[in-house]
Parts: sequence; structure tokens; C-alpha cells
Amino acid sequence: MIFYFSSTGNSKHVADMIAKRTGEETVSMADCVKKMQYDFKLKKGERIGFVYPIYCWSLPSVVEEFVKNVSIEKYGKHYTYSVATCGVATGGADMELAKILSKKGIGLHATFSVTMVDNYTLVFNVKNAAKNEAKNLRAEESIKNIVFLINNKTGGYHNHHRGLWPASKATKVMYNVSRKTSPFKVSEDCIGCGLCAKQCPTRAISLDYGKPVWKNKKCALCLGCLHNCPVNAINYGPTTKNHGQYKYTEVKED
Ligand SMILES: Cc1cc2nc3c(=O)[nH]c(=O)nc-3n(C[C@H](O)[C@H](O)[C@H](O)COP(=O)(O)O)c2cc1C
Ligand code: SF4
Ligand code: SF4
Repeated sequence: MIFYFSSTGNSKHVADMIAKRTGEETVSMADCVKKMQYDFKLKKGERIGFVYPIYCWSLPSVVEEFVKNVSIEKYGKHYTYSVATCGVATGGADMELAKILSKKGIGLHATFSVTMVDNYTLVFNVKNAAKNEAKNLRAEESIKNIVFLINNKTGGYHNHHRGLWPASKATKVMYNVSRKTSPFKVSEDCIGCGLCAKQCPTRAISLDYGKPVWKNKKCALCLGCLHNCPVNAINYGPTTKNHGQYKYTEVKED
């Protein structure tokens, strides 16, 4: 079973690649949290995977909530792994995950990481489609290698993008403090399609006379509403407007 979380498609792409090779099912952690569906039963020999993006060198709040609540009925021993997708570095997110899982008696046998396009457009500019495609194309080889290792149930820590991970405790606090919805603004371009509200993993948005309103003070800060808006009508603070929108698209290999 491959538990994944993804707001702009990078982690979903990795989860789908693993599913294709292993024949195992993908399960959206965001949907499970929304439905409060936390009970799972594994088949004999099935792998347990967690595929997620890095937020401020730590786990996205949705992933943390899911993993803290999940109950997995095991059938003997199960190989357990995680794959973090990131723009630059993962910090200590895999160690954070291992700690939560160990409290449930689940060992994390292998951790992997891959760098893809950084969707944190508060800082990064994603307007250059050719640059994005080149970065995701470079990731493809690394993803295939990860999929191969997972398929063979290879153990060990293969996360090569930890960076200065001891700082993760501080960056996690920063993430939790910064998850405010007050900087969200909607422009006149909004066509009232409701997609932002529908796809929000924390149900933070409702539609008021066809326009989105952030009814919760905090959210996951996944930026999914901003990146998936069909008319680029959502901004967060002063910087995102000039930094573009990003969604993973299949890369074309030669
Ligand atoms: C709130 C937020 C914080 C982020 N923090 C980091 C970070 O600390 N390090 C990093 O390399 N990438 C960071 N990113 C980038 C994402 O981890 C990266 O783009 C990821 O592949 C997106 O996955 P997705 O398309 O599955 O949502 C951050 C993105 C967001 C939205
Ligand atoms: S996704 Fe964009 S266009 Fe659709 S309701 Fe939300 S802000 Fe408006
Ligand atoms: S409001 Fe937007 S950024 Fe916040 S959790 Fe919902 S989709 Fe993600």
C-alpha cells in the first residue's frame, strides 16, 4: 500500500511509478484525513510506503496527522519505506516519520529522496517551463532507481538530501507558525469554479457568492489552491503573483 500526499503532482508521480512497478495500491492521505479513514489491512508481503513532499524540512501537517492516526493491521512482516520529494533538501522529515511510526511498532526499513521542481513560490519562481521540465527529467533516473530498490525491498537510508537536518526542529516550528491563511487574496480573475475549495486537503476554503473565502485561520500551506487555480487568481502575500504556477506534467524522455 502506497500512502501519498501531493499538492502539485510531484509526489503523486513518484507514488504512481511505484504502483506501476509493484502492483500495489495508492491511497491519498489527504482523502483519508478528510474522511477520517485510518484503518487499513495489508495483504501478505505487501509493502508499506509513504510518499510526500517536504515542507520546511519537515512533514506536511496532513501527513503528520495521517501517520499519527493510522492503524495498520499487519500480516507478518512488512517492508516499510518512505520517499520524500523536495526542491533542495529534506531536513529531518524521514527521521520525524520514523519516530511516529516506531511508536506504533512499525519500523521504517528504507528512506529515499528525490529533488524535483520546488513549488514553494513564496520564494521560488516556477515560470520557466523548460527549466522545470529539465529538473524533473533529471529526477526521472533517480525515481526509477528508487522504484527498483523498493521493488526489491532494499533496506537502508538512501536519503542524500538531508542538508543541515539538526535545524529541522526549528524549521518545523517555523512551518507551524507560518501556516496562516490571512495572506491569501483572490483577484478579479476568479471565475468561481470552486476547484480551490474542492481540492483543499484541510477544508479551509468555502465559496461565498462564488468566490473563495478562507474560513479557517490555519491550513497545511500546501499551496495547492494557488497552483491549481485555472486562472491564477490566488496569491499568498506579495511574492507569489510574479512567481507563476506549477503542476507536474509527464516528462518526455528520448
Ligand atoms: C510550504 C512548503 C514548504 C516547502 N519546504 C521545502 C523545504 O524545506 N525543502 C525543500 O527542498 N522543498 C520544500 N518545498 C518544496 C516541495 O517539497 C517540493 O516542491 C515537492 O516536490 C512538492 O511535491 P508535490 O508536487 O507532491 O506537492 C516546500 C513546499 C511548500 C509548499
Ligand atoms: S480555483 Fe480559482 S477560479 Fe476557481 S473558484 Fe478558486 S480562485 Fe476562483
Ligand atoms: S487553503 Fe490552499 S494552501 Fe491551505 S491547505 Fe487548502 S489548498 Fe492548501
